[in-house]
Amino acid sequence: MCADAAKIAVNNVDVFYREKQALFGINLHIRPHSILSVIGPAGSGLTTLLRSVNRLCELTPGVRTQGEILLDGKSIHAPAVDVTELRRRVGMVFDVPAPLPMSIFDNVAYGPRLNGRGRKGALMELAEKSLRAAALWDDVKDRLREPAMSLSGGQQQRLCIARVLALEPEVILLDRPCSGLDPISTAKIEESLMQLRETLTVVIAPHNVQQAGRISDRVAFMLSGSLIEENTAEVIFTNPADSRTNDYITGRFG
Ligand SMILES: Nc1ncnc2c1ncn2[C@@H]1O[C@H](COP(=O)(O)OP(=O)(O)O)[C@@H](O)[C@H]1O
Ligand SMILES: [Mg+2]
Repeated sequence: MCADAAKIAVNNVDVFYREKQALFGINLHIRPHSILSVIGPAGSGLTTLLRSVNRLCELTPGVRTQGEILLDGKSIHAPAVDVTELRRRVGMVFDVPAPLPMSIFDNVAYGPRLNGRGRKGALMELAEKSLRAAALWDDVKDRLREPAMSLSGGQQQRLCIARVLALEPEVILLDRPCSGLDPISTAKIEESLMQLRETLTVVIAPHNVQQAGRISDRVAFMLSGSLIEENTAEVIFTNPADSRTNDYITGRFG
């Protein structure tokens, strides 16, 4: 795909943690309105890649990035870029859900309030829309004022997704969002991601190859900090170009 059509273009990106190089010359064009799964064994650089895309990586001391990442054709590293706004446009969901110690409603309203979208009616509307999109609304609609901590782990993760969605992002990055979750919550999150792709771009490091198979439009396989190949899910799962991809998806190593 040409770079112009990409929502995110990663061009020749290297990332170093002090002397240790974690990403090697990554080139990846991420299509709008799609779900890209980035898969690979532990230590392949999935987290580093995801965290590079909204510049969370640079919060780690000693990190250095080379190369270029474009969002809608514009460098995310340009001096004029407001990093807070970048992270609103490119939201992130982590593996361990960490709701804020406040009510369910306030968790979702927190970001929009900070952004000055404080009018009460508008906030409630946005909260409902975000909670519905995260497949949590039916669970919580009668208990919005209860503490977020009273929710189950799977519900807390859906709340974290709703919190990101309330900022009306264009891209969401999810780093093994279902790793500790029950199958029902996992299915709800997968269902919600498949709906979200209609309005935004989803990049996920799934917790296993099966999850990538269930939800992905495209799949990128990484190994030891290098991108081995990227293609449609169908090609990656049935006819990958590289034998290492085949070995990984068939469970020969992992
Ligand atoms: N803060 C850090 N300091 C030093 N090395 C790190 C740091 N974070 C990650 N790494 C190294 O970078 C490589 C990629 O890590 P990571 O992106 O977390 O991989 P993955 O998410 O695929 O398991 C690994 O070798 C890891 O040990
Ligand atoms: Mg990781």
